[in-house]
Amino acid sequence: MANKRVWMTGAPSWGEWMEGVPFTIWMRPYIRRLSIQACDEPARKHTCMKIKDPARRLERFWGRVDRKHVDIIRSFVNGATVLDMGCGYGTTTHQLTQAGFQSVGIDYDPEVVAEAKRRWPSANFIEADAERLPFADASFDVIVMRDALHHLYREADFAKVRAEVLRVAKPRSRLIVFDPNVNFMLRTMRRIAAHKDEECDFETAKVILHDLGYGTVHASFNTLFSLPLSGGYVGLELVPNIAWAHTFLLGAERLLERPVNWLGLGRQLCWRYVVVGDRVEG
Ligand SMILES: C[S@@+](CC[C@H](N)C(=O)[O-])C[C@H]1O[C@@H](n2cnc3c(N)ncnc32)[C@H](O)[C@@H]1O
Repeated sequence: MANKRVWMTGAPSWGEWMEGVPFTIWMRPYIRRLSIQACDEPARKHTCMKIKDPARRLERFWGRVDRKHVDIIRSFVNGATVLDMGCGYGTTTHQLTQAGFQSVGIDYDPEVVAEAKRRWPSANFIEADAERLPFADASFDVIVMRDALHHLYREADFAKVRAEVLRVAKPRSRLIVFDPNVNFMLRTMRRIAAHKDEECDFETAKVILHDLGYGTVHASFNTLFSLPLSGGYVGLELVPNIAWAHTFLLGAERLLERPVNWLGLGRQLCWRYVVVGDRVEG
């Protein structure tokens, strides 16, 4: 199952053709000095984004964008027990814990789990591989994959991940997938940042949920401009660290997201998608 590509057929589109143009190469030395660096460590089986100072980054505009993303996820959480798969630095697990959910974050990277534990001591983090989850059957009402599905689907043995999701999820559980919206903008930004990453686009995510036996109850796009402005990809913050400016930008973005989705432009204009599924059969 791993490494299969079900989403690209036929001749390259204009966007795909443009990605081949190395017009961003001149920017790379500058980008490399910034707070994020792409890496491709052979010792790890996943591509990753090294963040030099994650704590500092969370205190700036990126922290607000990060909280916005968790707020979107939280709005779909409909049960008490939540598993945050591929929790990274743990902001999702932390925020869900603060909101009163019994949440646990798992990640197989010991460094990020150690940082998550240090930063959020009251939240529950476990170093574990999604292919072998240390939980009893039917433990969770909700499983969240935030910016994790593209790793699990392309890098892990997804048949094992799939079996573990179905084992630890309750029969009437919910699956919330929040992932980068793979489009021309996102691929261009990744080229600028020299950030190599796997992809699992919106359409593929919906197929995955369906194959897992989860019926889609919600699917939409979000995050029009806050992510690049906050340095979410290239590390270059384009907005000064002024709270009201962040509030204004996030408010404007929230107002625009609904019409963008109504008009069917989210696939082209947004940086993230969210797909929510409820388990169909027991
Ligand atoms: C892009 S990060 C997202 C982190 C976090 N969910 C967030 O949104 O900030 C993806 C995370 O998935 C983790 N991951 C990838 N494959 C995994 C696996 N098989 N088991 C557990 N964690 C995994 C990586 O270590 C990484 O921390």
